[in-house]
Amino acid sequence: MSLTFFLLLYCFWCGSSADDGGFTSLVGIGEPNERTTLMGGFIKASHPPKVIRDEFFVQELDHFNPNDNRKWLQRYQTNNEYYAIGGPVFLLIGGEEQISNLWMTTGAVAEYAKIFNAMIFQLEHRYYGKSYPTENLNTTNLVYLKIQQVLADVEAFIIGKSQNELHDAKWVLFGGSYPGSLAAWARITYPNLVHAAVSSSSVIKTRIDNIDYYKVADKALSDYNPQCVSNIRQATMVINDLLNTENGTKYVETVFKYSSPINLKNDVRQFFHQLALPISQIIQYNKDNRYFPSREEQSPVTITQLCDVMLKKSLGNPFDRYVALHEKLRQINRRKSSFYSYQRSLKDNSEISWNKGLVKSGDRQWFYQLCTEIGNFVTSNDEDHLFGNTIPIDFFIDLCSDIFGESFNLSELEKAVNKTTMLYHGLKNSTSRVIYLHGSIDPWSGLGLKEPKSDDSVSIFIEGVSHCADLYTSRSSDPPQLLKARQKVTFYLNKWLREI
Ligand SMILES: *[C@@H]1O[C@H](CO)[C@@H](O)[C@H](O)[C@H]1NC(C)=O
Ligand SMILES: *[C@@H]1O[C@H](CO)[C@@H](O)[C@H](O)[C@H]1NC(C)=O
Ligand SMILES: *[C@@H]1O[C@H](CO)[C@@H](O)[C@H](O)[C@H]1NC(C)=O
Ligand SMILES: *[C@@H]1O[C@H](CO)[C@@H](O)[C@H](O)[C@H]1NC(C)=O
Ligand SMILES: *[C@@H]1O[C@H](CO)[C@@H](O)[C@H](O)[C@H]1NC(C)=O
Repeated sequence: MSLTFFLLLYCFWCGSSADDGGFTSLVGIGEPNERTTLMGGFIKASHPPKVIRDEFFVQELDHFNPNDNRKWLQRYQTNNEYYAIGGPVFLLIGGEEQISNLWMTTGAVAEYAKIFNAMIFQLEHRYYGKSYPTENLNTTNLVYLKIQQVLADVEAFIIGKSQNELHDAKWVLFGGSYPGSLAAWARITYPNLVHAAVSSSSVIKTRIDNIDYYKVADKALSDYNPQCVSNIRQATMVINDLLNTENGTKYVETVFKYSSPINLKNDVRQFFHQLALPISQIIQYNKDNRYFPSREEQSPVTITQLCDVMLKKSLGNPFDRYVALHEKLRQINRRKSSFYSYQRSLKDNSEISWNKGLVKSGDRQWFYQLCTEIGNFVTSNDEDHLFGNTIPIDFFIDLCSDIFGESFNLSELEKAVNKTTMLYHGLKNSTSRVIYLHGSIDPWSGLGLKEPKSDDSVSIFIEGVSHCADLYTSRSSDPPQLLKARQKVTFYLNKWLREI
């Protein structure tokens, strides 16, 4: 999951997807691995697999303006195969990507649904996938892409679906990464409709500049081998020095197979950002049971393999090893070049038609959310940070203004992020019945809520696993602490579902 918050993380990563094959599924939580399920977790996919169809729910465009009656169709999916009358409803909240019907039959939510005889719904997030609230995504139309509106969609959906046999059912919300935050926020905002929430790898604290991300990433690598981190940092410094001269720049462009010249300040920052992305991605999704149907060889790249390249003396000095690492990642990802200019990413992010480029993948929308309400831009802005002082906050603020317009500036974002913090991130003491789960090597865990303020909420910290590990399909190879976390979720759901 997204990414979560990822978010922006994958923005530029996806940027060249239009050219060479697509990285869309690396945004957010992707899909659970259906095949390992068949080999033995505690649930098997149905045989024959249940057919999950897209359905559409009529939604308001603006929930807060009674004079605006415009409507749109929000995609959702249903699986009633585990449901028994009187059972609860489990709603998986969609995030910054299209929803995948695999989540309806495999993955942890389906596993819990089987235990509790729950009805399962999955609701796609407005502006992503096939859920188009507006004609296009220009900045006038994007104003309805707001957390408050998203939560109100969830409210309307619950009310709409609570007719007939579900009218007494208790609703439990699930989500991973950003949707994990939405699940917790929906529980605070609509306590009478949302009975409980399971909030996996959610980011609850919000700030503009997320320096914690690379701190946790740094630690994840150091725990394997501290030399791995110092070699990455050393390679980064060498590149930084090389980029100070014309010859050096040419050399860097050649060895990293950069397709356009690195000449402007933001090209340099973007270059460093793009060097950091695949590394962050490996850490964030380390051994997490995800599965990429079209790129099987990509799934198993782990911290171990990453660091082994950075530690391999036969490859040369740390700079040479870093070059070799990126070469290897390009091969695995079947790309000729992983880089493109700042101008190019502006152009790709400025598309406003549905179903094109970075709108189709959700990147433009997600970046808009970051620039207007969420912030949490992943920076490395100090000599001590994993990537040194190469990815400052200004880089992201420039992107916001250059893509969406001059009024998307730092002071506006500060105001907006402060408002988000005030509305949601404090999470009141009364926010009961929320389970927060975090993996110790998940770089997003730094902004998660590890000490719930309410006695009747719990936080589960899982050693050694990464982003949203608990949401993917369970398997016999799961570490015992992950199994234990899953059992705890079952325990609390069981307890809370008995409560009125
Ligand atoms: C955005 O698109 C709408 C049509 O959906 C149009 O009416 C509006 O003028 C456009 N706004 C801008 C700023 O281009
Ligand atoms: C840059 O490379 C050219 C050609 O190899 C060489 O003549 C020149 O001296 C180099 N300049 C610097 C500053 O290293
Ligand atoms: C940021 O944008 C707002 C809204 O357009 C504007 O009022 C403000 O002056 C801008 N601030 C800076 C520092 O540019
Ligand atoms: C946002 O909050 C921070 C910390 O509370 C404060 O220092 C800053 O002045 C606020 N900014 C705006 C624009 O409200
Ligand atoms: C919330 O809980 C904390 C710790 O239990 C307590 O210090 C604080 O006063 C509580 N705040 C409210 C608004 O109840």
